[in-house]
Amino acid sequence: MADRDPRWSSRYALEKSFIPKDRYLSREFLEMELDRLWPRVWQIAGRADRVAQPGDYLEYTIGDQSILVVHGEDGQLRAFHNACRHRGTRLASGAGCFEGRRIRCPFHGWTWGLDGASERVYLAEEFDPAALDPERIRLRECQVDTWGGFVFINMDPDAPPLEQAIGPATRWLDPVRLDQMGVLWHKQMILPINWKAALEAFTESYHVPATHPEYPRLGTDISRFLYHIDGAGHSHYGVPYSQGMEPESPTGLDERELLQSYISYTIDEIGAMYVERDREAATRAAARPRREGEGAIDAYMDELYTHAASADIALPAPTPEQAEHIGGNFIFPHFFTLPTVGNALAYRSRPHGLNPDETLWDVWSLTAFPGGEMPDYETRQVDWRDPAQVGRVLHQDFSNMLEVSAGMRSRSYEGVHLNLRQEMALWEMHREIDRYLGVD
Ligand code: FES
Ligand SMILES: [Fe+2]
Repeated sequence: MADRDPRWSSRYALEKSFIPKDRYLSREFLEMELDRLWPRVWQIAGRADRVAQPGDYLEYTIGDQSILVVHGEDGQLRAFHNACRHRGTRLASGAGCFEGRRIRCPFHGWTWGLDGASERVYLAEEFDPAALDPERIRLRECQVDTWGGFVFINMDPDAPPLEQAIGPATRWLDPVRLDQMGVLWHKQMILPINWKAALEAFTESYHVPATHPEYPRLGTDISRFLYHIDGAGHSHYGVPYSQGMEPESPTGLDERELLQSYISYTIDEIGAMYVERDREAATRAAARPRREGEGAIDAYMDELYTHAASADIALPAPTPEQAEHIGGNFIFPHFFTLPTVGNALAYRSRPHGLNPDETLWDVWSLTAFPGGEMPDYETRQVDWRDPAQVGRVLHQDFSNMLEVSAGMRSRSYEGVHLNLRQEMALWEMHREIDRYLGVD
């Protein structure tokens, strides 16, 4: 892809199932990523519903860079580097709608149209005309595209199209129809760990029995999860249709009651992946007469789809083969989602500023609303240390992170030895990062 980064050192070199710890801990490694990976990769700037109307904008930050996604008068989304062409001032922050459909610098009042073209320079006659060449003072653009209801940007004008970059992953995710979902809630927090290690707490299920001991008791059997490496950094695991339900459950509940408990626990302790209609469907399924050959999942699905049809909720209808690949799906470099039927839990990870030990972490609970509605929602800043704010299950995940971050620093520790079946998504992600760093 490119010449090897001059800062590269053998202490960062991957081995077949080994990841050296300096790839997480070193400031130099983060600098390489910020110079070679992030400026060239398609990344999620935000949810498209944030920029649904002309004049709407959202800011996306990555490292020390800031990008504005803007909905134009012509209905097109554009992305601009968030820097005034005069003295560099950041033009907008957060999300909102540009007043008068103009982008206006707060410092000296230069303005641009929503298409990035300069419209006004205050006292233009006092400048050297060459400095105000329209092309020169036009806002600098990035590539922008959408998939799954998310806006993606790429700072590299020569990067291949989004579809090509994420195709190996979206091939499995398209049937889930994330694009038809609205946001139930959106939370942001700062995690005390490297952005890659934060993601890696989710791209495997090997940790489930130790970190989330409730789930094996609710029927989750990780030995049934099937892991797939999709190439170009992407990977996924499928939870087979049976969702690990054993007819003889460990708790003595029958299969339908177990599914009902699993769904209820997930709603109460995560608040995503299932919503109240799922709880109600599972409850009706548990109560209805048993039919020959009908499993717990079949009965629940039957109740769910019947309800959805009457409530004008568009639920996806994956084929059985597609359903085998739905479970935990990772889109390189920083998106991970756990979709179910009509709902999804989704995460985005990115370095927090220039700090290798901190991650800016987003969590979305997505669901298909009646009539395809996309309701308003707040983005809430939360504290990962508080189970009341992040939910019990994610708190279990986050609690490990501080310990990982601290423990990795031990002089005795060299790096991550991977489980060859369940943790190879980590290796695939690092291998792709190396490609951006020019290492093969
Ligand atoms: S810095 Fe933006 S107009 Fe001067
Ligand atoms: Fe977990």
